Amino acid sequence: VTSNPQATATRRSFIDWLLSIGVLGWAASVAYPVLRYVLPSGTAGVGGPVVLTAEEADKVRRDRFTICQAGTLRLIVFDDGSGKYRALAAKCTHEGCTVQYVPGDAVIWCACHNGRFDLEGRNISGPPPRPLSRYGVHVDEAGRVIVTPEPIAT
Ligand code: FES
Repeated sequence: VTSNPQATATRRSFIDWLLSIGVLGWAASVAYPVLRYVLPSGTAGVGGPVVLTAEEADKVRRDRFTICQAGTLRLIVFDDGSGKYRALAAKCTHEGCTVQYVPGDAVIWCACHNGRFDLEGRNISGPPPRPLSRYGVHVDEAGRVIVTPEPIAT
C-alpha cells in the first residue's frame, strides 16, 4: 500500500476544518439560548409607537377595552372611566392567560385563576406574583389611539 503524503495532509486539513465547523456550531447552539435568557428582550421586535386599528379603537369606545398586539407584546388598552386611556401588558404574570378589563369593578381580571390587578397594573389579589407592565398611550388630534410599547418605570 502506497500513500501520498500530500493527499493525506489535504484529507487531514479537510477533517480538521469539518471538526472546527462542528465545534463552532455546537458553541453557537449553547451560547444562543444562554444569551437569549440573559439579555433583556422586553421590546424585541416591537419598534416604535403602535397605532390601534380603527376596529380596535372602536372596541375601546364600545366595550371600554381591547386586546392588541404590539410586536411581540400583547397589550390591553382601556378607558378607565374618566376618559383616560391606559395600556398594560395583557399577559397575566401568573401563567400567561390574557386579562380583561371589568369596568364595573374597576379591575383588570384574569379569568384563569381569578387574579386581579388594579388599573395601574398592580397585582391586588389571587395568584399573580407581579404587576402588569404599564405602557404609554394617548389619543392624537385625529382620534387615533397610539401606544408606546416601552414599559413605564414604576
Ligand atoms: S394565569 Fe392569571 S391568575 Fe393564573
